[in-house]
Amino acid sequence: MSYALSIDGITKAYGTVRAVSEINLRIAPGERVALIGASGSGKSTLIRLSSGLLTADSGEVKVFGDAIQSGGKLTRDARRIRRRIGLIFQKFNLVNRLSVTTNVLVGALGRVSPLRGTFGFYCRADRDAAYSALEQVGIEKHAHKRAEALSGGQQQRAAIARTLVQRARIVIADEPIASLDPKSARRVMDLLSELNRTQGITLLVSLHQVDYARAYFDRIVAMRGGEIVFDGPAAKLTPDFLTELYGASAEELILPGQFEAAQAPHTPMRMENPAELARALN
Ligand SMILES: Nc1ncnc2c1ncn2[C@@H]1O[C@H](COP(=O)(O)OP(=O)(O)O)[C@@H](O)[C@H]1O
Ligand SMILES: [Mg+2]
Repeated sequence: MSYALSIDGITKAYGTVRAVSEINLRIAPGERVALIGASGSGKSTLIRLSSGLLTADSGEVKVFGDAIQSGGKLTRDARRIRRRIGLIFQKFNLVNRLSVTTNVLVGALGRVSPLRGTFGFYCRADRDAAYSALEQVGIEKHAHKRAEALSGGQQQRAAIARTLVQRARIVIADEPIASLDPKSARRVMDLLSELNRTQGITLLVSLHQVDYARAYFDRIVAMRGGEIVFDGPAAKLTPDFLTELYGASAEELILPGQFEAAQAPHTPMRMENPAELARALN
């Protein structure tokens, strides 16, 4: 069986800081895994390495059996392999001035020619797929609005719709709810779990706070100082055990309500057209 994601001996250093150190991680198709850890523990670096947005110093990453990077280099097939991964970020990554539909159609760009995509010549089937994806995430009423007119939660749901149009088999999300109010955060997490349950989409989701990880995931991987310090069932990750793992910084992961106050205001990504966004995401 090939794993949805298979990480072997991945290491990435910035100067003397080992952001990710000799990590091994295997995620089976259909699994739902939360990645937790205090700020600076290496979550974003591991996510960027997993999706080939960043090359490692050493080690290998495979997605559904195919290497996306190996020995510090992206493989020849990296772009194609990356299209199987739906990426979700904290800051939604939509093009603000463009319609929600156009943003979601970017997910189809891997299949249409870049030229056609640039000029917005999507076929009827793509447009139908975009509408259906917007229905699935519950924001079809906003299809024609500019992305910037949507609330944060709706924008994040549009980003999820984009991964559906992309037909991603694994969604890798870096703190997807960190900029959202608790109600929108739950909605986004409900939606991701539903896609996992009903469509078998594999999930790897980094979360700053452990309460959401416990509520939505069976398996939790906890990082500290670039290493995995726990990989197991959510039920084992009690407050006492977290304190054992993280010492004083466990508070950052446990205290309720803290992450809302801690978030910086939303800074939009500056992108001129969907092809440009697709390049950034692909
Ligand atoms: N581009 C970068 N340049 C230098 N140091 C970085 C860079 N990205 C991350 N780091 C460092 O790597 C470590 C892990 O960071 P990161 O992966 O962002 O952690 P997390 O997402 O868990 O907060 C931190 O010490 C951070 O300062
Ligand atoms: Mg991070």
